[in-house]
Amino acid sequence: MSIKSPHIPVLLNEVINSFRDVKNGYFVDCTLGYGGHSKHMLEHYPQLKHIGIDRDDEALAFSKQHLMQFSDRSILYKGTFANIFPKLQEKPIVAVLADFGVSSLQLDKLERGFSFGSETLDMRMDSDAKLSAYEVVNNYSFSKLEYIFKHYGEINRSKELANSIIEERAKQPIQSAKALSEIASKILPKGGKIHPATLVFQAIRIEVNNELGEIEGLLDALEAKHTEGEIVSLITFHSLEDRLVKNRFTKWSKDCICDDMAMRCTCGKKHSLGFMLNKKPITASLEELKYNPRSRSAKLRTFCFTKSNN
Ligand SMILES: C[S@@+](CC[C@H](N)C(=O)[O-])C[C@H]1O[C@@H](n2cnc3c(N)ncnc32)[C@H](O)[C@@H]1O
Repeated sequence: MSIKSPHIPVLLNEVINSFRDVKNGYFVDCTLGYGGHSKHMLEHYPQLKHIGIDRDDEALAFSKQHLMQFSDRSILYKGTFANIFPKLQEKPIVAVLADFGVSSLQLDKLERGFSFGSETLDMRMDSDAKLSAYEVVNNYSFSKLEYIFKHYGEINRSKELANSIIEERAKQPIQSAKALSEIASKILPKGGKIHPATLVFQAIRIEVNNELGEIEGLLDALEAKHTEGEIVSLITFHSLEDRLVKNRFTKWSKDCICDDMAMRCTCGKKHSLGFMLNKKPITASLEELKYNPRSRSAKLRTFCFTKSNN
């Protein structure tokens, strides 16, 4: 029996196609979610064994059912990918996928506190994690709040916003995402169709879930350990995520690692770990944008390792 997934996988054909030259071995889906990408990968590449990682219990429980028919070649782990990926013992890993950010269900389920109308202030992907949005909004200092808004939301009026939150919470604790979104809407300008609190929510979500640290951790692990022919496809949803992936893939592609200011090359020019499948990121087609508006900011970048480092 097939069950309907609450999440439409983005750039599905493009993801499948990015692994077209994959060898035999393990495919690691670092952001299993509702198993959309994983299921199609397992169907399309019968030679692959599958490892699915997610920090969200609800997503794991759903995917366990969803991938039942593949249970003989699939194993699921709970935790963060930056923590689990470097410890994987399964070999060889030949394909790695990450579709960063939150799932549609996490966004849509009001009690998870990710959406503007939520009556809670949570935003934890892992409901067992200690830090929640409530803690950040009600207990962080002015300078920490300002830092988050400036660096994780790229918000110009980060000082004003942090001040306003501190003033409001002195009257009474800020209990809900709805209340936070009202405070933000008073300070930040409306930008067309985009809700004014969008970047505030993005910033707090990044802090609560250490989202950028997680991506760096995964990239570090891939840099430290990879096999020849391993293909890595990463999907990002905003510029902060994309910059991390783009910069690291560019670094891995370079033969010469001499300082930009060096007069001549002294490194021997043999340092490239592989190549990027496409110079520019792949984005959603017009057709996909019609049935899945959440794909509008998705960017897919793929790197193929040509050397082993195991
Ligand atoms: C965009 S959804 C993935 C959807 C999936 N590709 C599908 O087709 O159903 C992102 C998922 O990754 C999980 N996630 C995000 N960051 C994570 C991390 N650092 N470690 C583990 N899971 C993470 C979230 O809990 C969420 O379920």
